[in-house]
Amino acid sequence: MAIPQEYIAELSRRTDIVELVRSYVQLKRAGRMERGLCPFHNEKTPSFYVYPDTASFYCFGCGTGGDAITFMKLIQNLDYVEAVKALAARAGMPMPDEDDAGAKLRGRVLAANRESARFFAAQLNSEDGRSARAYLRGRALSDGIIRRFGLGFAPDQNGALRSHLKSLGFAEPELVTAGLCKMNDRGSVYDAFRGRIIFPIIDLRGNVIAFGGRVMEGGWGAKYLNSSDTPVFKKSRGLFALNIARKSTSRRLILAEGYMDVISLHQAGFDTAVATLGTALTNEQAKLISDYADEVVICYDTDEAGQRATARAIDVFKNTPVKVRVLQLAGAKDPDEFIKTYGAQRFGQLLEGSGNTIEYALAQERRKHDLATPDGRAAYIRAALEVLADQAMPAEQDIYAGRVAEETDVAKAALLTQLDGVRKRLYRRREKEREKRALEQGAAAGINVPYTAGGDKALGVAFAEQQLMAAILRNPADTLPMAEAAVQPQQLISPEMAEAYTLLLQMGAAGEYIDLATAGAALPQKTTALLSRALALNHDTGFSREDVQMYIDRITEGHAAGANVAEMDAEEYKAWMAEKRRRKLGAAPEADP
Ligand code: UTP
Ligand code: MN
Repeated sequence: MAIPQEYIAELSRRTDIVELVRSYVQLKRAGRMERGLCPFHNEKTPSFYVYPDTASFYCFGCGTGGDAITFMKLIQNLDYVEAVKALAARAGMPMPDEDDAGAKLRGRVLAANRESARFFAAQLNSEDGRSARAYLRGRALSDGIIRRFGLGFAPDQNGALRSHLKSLGFAEPELVTAGLCKMNDRGSVYDAFRGRIIFPIIDLRGNVIAFGGRVMEGGWGAKYLNSSDTPVFKKSRGLFALNIARKSTSRRLILAEGYMDVISLHQAGFDTAVATLGTALTNEQAKLISDYADEVVICYDTDEAGQRATARAIDVFKNTPVKVRVLQLAGAKDPDEFIKTYGAQRFGQLLEGSGNTIEYALAQERRKHDLATPDGRAAYIRAALEVLADQAMPAEQDIYAGRVAEETDVAKAALLTQLDGVRKRLYRRREKEREKRALEQGAAAGINVPYTAGGDKALGVAFAEQQLMAAILRNPADTLPMAEAAVQPQQLISPEMAEAYTLLLQMGAAGEYIDLATAGAALPQKTTALLSRALALNHDTGFSREDVQMYIDRITEGHAAGANVAEMDAEEYKAWMAEKRRRKLGAAPEADP
């Protein structure tokens, strides 16, 4: 659907990007910008910036950037139109007209899913479902819990679902779009789930959006199959049983690994259990959880994969305000098995006693070392102090140093002295890493020059192009006419900047409102990210007419009098430019006009 340009302009004006980002990322003011931990990659030191002046954001760590709509798209994993709608709802604007074809298709897919869920549930209770019922009974699930989760059975008989849905008026292409059927190489259509226990995945509005299917004894294929992404389902956003968990009065969610764990937990009375759908926790899922929980207890499988996934999930939750605890099971491979073996009450005790992430990290280290030997104790102390230096606040450092002291029978004062050294070393290491990263960023520079344009030597020109686009976005009314009079888009050597410039000229000619959001609407994400980068690098530059003229000269001449700039790289060029500017301004100190 094409959304009118004026609509995007109005939306951009009404959206406060800082406030928007702040609902996902903890931001700290840094001058005229805001800084925080990037929600698009995992990092420990913040390199993600939001610039209210240009309504843009940029991460110097991963290069993700753009306007408010881009942010919404990426953080919620929405398509462009969905992101616009979500922002419109925030801004209290009426929605742009719904795309009829898309809405209709989504409606058909949801209807097909609903009918499929009914079909699978009926099959479970039919003659054919006898073995499936026996399987579920064998796993100790009650009839009540089977109904609450809407479990079903897909018979091992190809075409069972397909012919049922066709009899209800659904066409084969719709069934393939819905992921309920698949098409083989020869173009014939078959049921996606056969001979499997079915777990419907239901969204917060009660729509059946996808299915998971488990093999039974003697079955074939992967243990679990999950629906592929469809117009109504994105695996990276879905959470199993959130539709049930969010009805609980508790604001503490339990995050487990598997379907069966979740169902078992609910049956045992832990009605806030949820799980991802066979994938590692994503930022969107963590965000979704933080909408419904103040606290999350991670309760993954005890195997090594589960512990790795725990560490990763802890990292992902760092981008949210949720408090994280980790429940450590012993004597069972997962919560389902634990409850079967030891009962709900024991699980409840573990839940209450689950430690925070520091306690979890310390426990992990303790497990690795033999505290009965002096060497083991010394190694444990080193590892524990690393954890405290890295993760704990000063008050926490004191508390946990006390615990480590008791565990190892070493004086707490000695530990605190040692901790001081560890902290300093860690700090120096971080500094070095930061420097290294800054250097790498400089080298990568994000400036894209085609090989044919002269490689490194063209960097200076590409830099001028990037500066010119930033200047236009900052002040289109004055800068665009200057550029338009002198520079043709085809003169630009960076394909992205040429693309952006072409668009800006068109928008200018049409008298449209120009900012990153309105321009970004018609540009690929990569180009929008480069523009946001240009804005970020210039957040404290006041572009004067002289600056703009220099960029234009540089682009049109390819070289300038007095210096062989074609030989310069981007950094040299930047320095040369600054020098030239100082001279033009009569050695006046640099200041924002
Ligand atoms: P598990 O193998 O631990 O399964 O996978 P489980 O949920 O404990 O189930 P039971 O008790 O063995 O029956 C954990 C989760 O990983 C995903 C599923 O979401 C599963 O619930 N998974 C696993 C897949 O998507 N595909 C697979 O082949 C296996
Ligand atoms: Mn499991």
